[in-house]
Amino acid sequence: MAERLVSLTIYNMEKKALFINGSARRDRGITYRLSTKVREGLESEGYEVEYIHLVDLNINFCEGCVSEDGSLCNPKRCLEGKLNDDFKIVMDKMLKRDIIVFLSPVYWYSMSGRMKNLIERLTSLENVGKMLDGKIGGFVVTAQEDGAMMTILQLMGTLNDMGFLFPPYAFTYSVNFLDPLQDKEAVEYALRLGKNLAKMHRLVKGNKWV
Ligand SMILES: Cc1cc2nc3c(=O)[nH]c(=O)nc-3n(C[C@H](O)[C@H](O)[C@H](O)COP(=O)(O)O)c2cc1C
Repeated sequence: MAERLVSLTIYNMEKKALFINGSARRDRGITYRLSTKVREGLESEGYEVEYIHLVDLNINFCEGCVSEDGSLCNPKRCLEGKLNDDFKIVMDKMLKRDIIVFLSPVYWYSMSGRMKNLIERLTSLENVGKMLDGKIGGFVVTAQEDGAMMTILQLMGTLNDMGFLFPPYAFTYSVNFLDPLQDKEAVEYALRLGKNLAKMHRLVKGNKWV
């Protein structure tokens, strides 16, 4: 009986993942290309993937309200007034999805400015009601030389502090490959990441690591 209930829960889960891409080169960049292998891993588990390309959106800088007075930093305020912008598009999709993968090229040993800008705006979701608690995250990072692991760890630590969980092998990165699909290790990690995100989802929502 319990086994049947678990199967039913898994059956009813929405199998959709959100990929948020911080690359300036949208879907013609190296970062996007590597992410297609994470998508493949998820698709092999029956999941659909939707992309948000931050380069398509106009997201203003965080105004730093939380430093003024904690209660001023909340989604309502972050969506209105001076900050009225495309943050709502990202926020709504993030709140809807359980699995969220962050894609970024390394820009000066860190994530891209677009990604950092979004992360700062997410403060309003964390600050009131811990709205990202229990989301399942993963990372796709590309670089020419150095800074990939540093970027992943920055993102991972920060997002964990906002409530994210991560599966084993929560990231893939490729360094110095113009075509990251030629980077066998990165591809292997990407496929594994896709599958592990699905496994983690089933574990968290259906109580089953399968
Ligand atoms: C502004 C800027 C800064 C960069 N800084 C770094 C860096 O610090 N370390 C590095 O290895 N590559 C750096 N790169 C190279 C990119 O990380 C690399 O080419 C990446 O794979 C590009 O991804 P994309 O094709 O999705 O744009 C930088 C590129 C740009 C545009």
